[in-house]
Amino acid sequence: AEGLPLINKKVLITAGPTYEAIDPVRFIGNHSSGKMGFELAAAANAAGAKVILVSGPTHLANPHENIELVRVQSALEMFDAATKFFPEVDIAIAAAAVSDYRPKVSAMQKIKKNSEIMQLELVKNPDILATLGEAKKDQLLIGFALETENEEENAAGKLKKKNLDFIVLNSLNDSGAGFKSETNKIKILFKDGNVKTFDLKSKKEVAEDILNEIILLSNE
Ligand code: C5P
Repeated sequence: AEGLPLINKKVLITAGPTYEAIDPVRFIGNHSSGKMGFELAAAANAAGAKVILVSGPTHLANPHENIELVRVQSALEMFDAATKFFPEVDIAIAAAAVSDYRPKVSAMQKIKKNSEIMQLELVKNPDILATLGEAKKDQLLIGFALETENEEENAAGKLKKKNLDFIVLNSLNDSGAGFKSETNKIKILFKDGNVKTFDLKSKKEVAEDILNEIILLSNE
């Protein structure tokens, strides 16, 4: 194991969507597959790191038996797990597509279709990554951004606001990139203002590119 670039490092990764319960059988969710986060976990493990992967609901199996996989459902559960593990890690990567809102109350029984109009009151979920950014000591902190307009400007705003070392910008303007696909095309914005642009690649290769940038920073 000697010579591995992330040996003796602990890495926390969030992945997948979150499901916000409306009642015992229904939820608010999104189409995140979890693939990007699971590929990052596999790449970090291969680089010698001890990996804790906190994932919302996905069909993906644990990429490696050495990875500690913590499965959660809701944003609040993901928040609890991520904030619990964060103080003990060296690097944290937030790749989860966390639901911005959750139903204010989750009904105890299945909701009946009695009325013509049904209103659901939503409350804001906590921003997990921003909370880690506030708690950050000497950890490296990495986030993702998926923007449909003013991409770089919005991503740079999040990088600063959430106290990140770099942010990975997923482009929706490139075919083959994004949520459900097998491939991704990214730009990385660093806190010093540097920007790196990458080609369209498999999510496995994208994960390796991101890990390489982390390895460069962790050796500084
Ligand atoms: O603000 P926005 O949702 O676009 O930021 C995306 C980044 O913040 C991603 O890295 C995502 O995992 C993280 N995030 C989070 N908790 C939230 C919302 C976003 O950790 N409630």
